[in-house]
Amino acid sequence: MRVQYQAIGWNRQKKIYDSVLIAGVVSYLAIFTGAGFVIYPTATAETLLIRAFGTLALLLLHIILCIGPLCRLDRRFLPLLYNRRHLGVTTFVVALVHGVFSIIQFHALGDVSPLVSLFISNTRYNSLANFPFQALGFFALLILFAMAATSHDFWLHNLSAPVWKRIHMLVYVAYALLVAHVILGALQSDTNAALAVLLGLGLILVSVLHLLAAAKEWCIDNLKVRAAEEGFVEVCDVDGIPEKRAAVISLEGERIAVFRYDGKVSAVSNVCRHQNGPLGEGRIIDGCITCPWHGWEYRPENGQSPPPFQERIATFRVCVKNHRVLLDPHQLPPGTPVEPARIEEPLHD
Ligand code: HEM
Ligand code: FES
Repeated sequence: MRVQYQAIGWNRQKKIYDSVLIAGVVSYLAIFTGAGFVIYPTATAETLLIRAFGTLALLLLHIILCIGPLCRLDRRFLPLLYNRRHLGVTTFVVALVHGVFSIIQFHALGDVSPLVSLFISNTRYNSLANFPFQALGFFALLILFAMAATSHDFWLHNLSAPVWKRIHMLVYVAYALLVAHVILGALQSDTNAALAVLLGLGLILVSVLHLLAAAKEWCIDNLKVRAAEEGFVEVCDVDGIPEKRAAVISLEGERIAVFRYDGKVSAVSNVCRHQNGPLGEGRIIDGCITCPWHGWEYRPENGQSPPPFQERIATFRVCVKNHRVLLDPHQLPPGTPVEPARIEEPLHD
């Protein structure tokens, strides 16, 4: 939590993540250029490197875009999300090498500055077959830069969560620009048709995963709840909530995580203060709700992070009757203590 939080410090899992990432990047570049020299003996090293870095950046971007929905669909993918920041920064660096090599290769020998040449050497914006696709790559690169530069939690706190989130949602604009960059580029080169097909498959995969994740969330949001007494509504069966885990329900457009632990039930906002992670998909560890994304912690009975941290999330009044959980949909101010509801013992003969 924040820079000092142990949970997002430099731990073994992160070292493994980064080692796998670096090994993957180096292997891809070596295999791509090695195979390129064999398959296209006439291709220059510069061309192969431009293509190797470009395709790798695009592959990494696909992985980044798939991780979010995959984690929503199956929690076993959560370890991939844990260090997505380094994946994002790596994607930018790889894309930057591709962009810089391309500019040097195609624009450095003229009598105008290479960056100016990028925009004026081809101005056929009204032609699909000859569209200046490199400019699209440039703008995508700017977005990847903005995301990489602001990816640290320092910026999340200083820019505020909504602004930070908006900047990072631009990844979809970058993706759209890159799809156009590659497809329009392929129209101008006979070697890239296979890549355009692969990109089409990637686009389908990204879209399908997002639709499936959205459908799952839609089901949560439209779960029927029954009105009960004193403004409380009946939301779920307590036996359906695994010990130290939560059921996520949606009331009046608000996602709420109903946690069951040590014979008690507490309800808090499902939204983590860090990067809106789904708290209801986390667990109670050492008495604290632990966010599945980067490990921020909150006490279930008051929504407060343990000292010295000061993050707070909204809490909800809750009670248990006949093993059904009843909830007051009106959220209490973040950090408000609420007496947990006791689960009645089942009657024995
Ligand atoms: C200043 C920014 C950029 C410039 C000037 C640029 C330029 C180029 C050029 C000239 C090509 C054609 C290469 C060839 O046919 O040999 C190309 C292809 C490509 N670019 Fe970019 N690009 C930029 C940004 C990006 C970014 C940010 C990405 C991905 C994250 C990207 C991914 C690709 C891919 C996948 C290809 C197809 C590679 C292939 O032909 O096999 N580009 N780019
Ligand atoms: S800890 Fe990062 S979103 Fe919750």
